[in-house]
Amino acid sequence: MKRFVLCITGASGSIYGYRLLEELSKRGSVDAVVSSAGATVLKEEMDKTLKELKAEFPEVNFYGERELTAPIASGSVLTGYEAVLIAPCSMSTLASVANGVNINLIHRICEVALKERVKLVLLVREMPYSRVHLENMLRATEAGAVVVPASPGFYHRPGSMDDLINFVVGKVLDLVGVEHDLYRRWKGGGR
Ligand SMILES: Cc1cc2nc3c(=O)[nH]c(=O)nc-3n(C[C@H](O)[C@H](O)[C@H](O)COP(=O)(O)O)c2cc1C
Repeated sequence: MKRFVLCITGASGSIYGYRLLEELSKRGSVDAVVSSAGATVLKEEMDKTLKELKAEFPEVNFYGERELTAPIASGSVLTGYEAVLIAPCSMSTLASVANGVNINLIHRICEVALKERVKLVLLVREMPYSRVHLENMLRATEAGAVVVPASPGFYHRPGSMDDLINFVVGKVLDLVGVEHDLYRRWKGGGR
């Protein structure tokens, strides 16, 4: 069974983290960390508390952002995982990852993923980007992370918000080797 770490931070787009929890927990085992800002945005955008999220996903192992002694903070454990996903990823968490600054468990997991060469996907969201954000994305990419902007395409002709969300979630799943049919793949013009 594939194992994943999913971290939800305080960027807008809690729905991406929520949908990834749904999709990943159907197919593998998931360890999750929600930052304190992530919990605030989750409440703001989805009207869900962290407690309610945990109750909805009893099969997911949740850790608090201060739990620096969690097994997934260790390289010897994280190497058994398929990928670490930060979705959504705030500019603040991006900055920590890009500059090797560990303040919470999410930053530590990202640092370990980079040093152990475990796939790290950052679903970043901000608008517009400052030079600092762009430089941090480049630094994170050069260090081995995959930076994915939370920007859906429109060539699959989305008809609903779900279609837009599924496109982004599907792209993230593609990157971590999870099969899905969340969006229609491009088959050439006019089809
Ligand atoms: C409703 C709301 C929306 C936010 N949206 C974003 C965002 O899209 N991108 C971002 O980088 N920060 C956003 N922030 C700010 C982050 O939550 C803030 O920088 C926080 O310190 C991030 O901490 P974390 O990375 O530990 O989760 C938002 C905050 C709130 C309250």
